[in-house]
Amino acid sequence: MPKIQFDGQEIECEENENLRRVLLRAGAPLYNGAAKTFHCRGIGTCGTCAIEIEGQVSNITDIERWRLGFPPHQRGAGLRLACQCKVRSDLRIKKHPGFWGQNISR
Ligand code: FES
Repeated sequence: MPKIQFDGQEIECEENENLRRVLLRAGAPLYNGAAKTFHCRGIGTCGTCAIEIEGQVSNITDIERWRLGFPPHQRGAGLRLACQCKVRSDLRIKKHPGFWGQNISR
């Protein structure tokens, strides 16, 4: 069973589970601010479930590549959309600030 570290929580899930569903079930803070209410419910179009992931998840999907390729997201920023990812290993997740989780400070 993969274990997910996120915001001080350790969350267990089944391999290949949808990452967004796992995080929401656990009450993890996947969305920032008003995005908790205003999001696309996991179809990959709003971009507000963007997170930084260490570990293995499924390959990037076409819609995910499309959504992460325009503002406020920046192509190559290294984020993934939780709603498009399936869990493949233990993960460490970070949510960045901003409505879309797009404000990366490195
Ligand atoms: S919930 Fe909208 S892109 Fe993931």
